[in-house]
Amino acid sequence: MKLLAFQGSPRMEKGNTEKILQAFLEGAREAGAETETLYLRRMNINPCTGCFSCWFQTPGECVQKDDMKEVLEKILEADVLIWATPLYIYNMTAYMKAMFERILPLIKPDIIEGKDGLASHPARYKSKRQRWILISNSGFPEQEHFESLLHCFDRVCTIWTRGEGFAVTILKGAGELMRYFDIKLFEPFFEAVRDAGREFVETGSVSQETKARVDKPLWEYAQTASKP
Ligand SMILES: Cc1cc2nc3c(=O)[nH]c(=O)nc-3n(C[C@H](O)[C@H](O)[C@H](O)COP(=O)(O)O)c2cc1C
Repeated sequence: MKLLAFQGSPRMEKGNTEKILQAFLEGAREAGAETETLYLRRMNINPCTGCFSCWFQTPGECVQKDDMKEVLEKILEADVLIWATPLYIYNMTAYMKAMFERILPLIKPDIIEGKDGLASHPARYKSKRQRWILISNSGFPEQEHFESLLHCFDRVCTIWTRGEGFAVTILKGAGELMRYFDIKLFEPFFEAVRDAGREFVETGSVSQETKARVDKPLWEYAQTASKP
C-alpha cells in the first residue's frame, strides 16, 4: 500500500503537524506500507492561473512547468492521500491550497450529475478507489475550529473517494502544547497515532478504541507536567 502525504506546514519538519503525521506514517510502515512525504513549502508549486489549458488546449497537462507535474504523477500512483496541514485562518495553509487547486488536470471539463444530484466533473483517468486521510492541528483548543477546514475538503473528498469521505481524521486542538511542553509528555498520544497508522494499513480502518486514544485532548497530557 502506497501512502502519499502532503505536508502543508511552513514549519515543515520542525512543526506540530509533522509530529502527528510522522507518528502515523511510522505505524503505517511497521505494517508494511510504503510512505512518502512531500513538503509543499519546499516544492515549486504556483497557484492555478485559471487558463483552463489543462482542459481545452492540452487536456490533462498544465501549462505551468513546475513541480506539480511530479505531484500529479505521484497522486495517480498512490493508494492513500494524506492531507496534513495546520489550521491557518480556519483553513488549510496557502501552500496546500495552491497545490489543491492544481489537481484540475486530473478531472475533465464535462459536467455530470453526481450521486447527490449536484453538478460534478468526472475523473480524467480510471483508477482504483483512493482513500483520503486528514491530519491537522490548531492553536485554539476546541474541535469546532476545524469545521471550515472539513467543509473545504468535503465535496472533493467525497467525490474522489467515491462516497467514503475521509477514512481517518486526526484533528488536534491546542497543537502548540507539543512545541512548548516537554514532548515526552505526549508519548502516549504518539503511541496511539502510531497504532492508528498500523491498524489502518492492516485492517483498512482505525478501531473506535484507538480513535478514542488519538482524540484525547492534548492538554490532558500537559496537565501531568510538574508545576514550575
Ligand atoms: C497565519 C496563521 C494563521 C493561523 N490561524 C489559526 C486559526 O484560524 N485557528 C487556530 O486555532 N489556530 C491558528 N493558527 C495557529 C496554528 O494552527 C498553530 O500554531 C499550529 O500548531 C501550527 O502547526 P505547525 O507547527 O505544524 O505549523 C494560525 C497560525 C498562523 C501562523
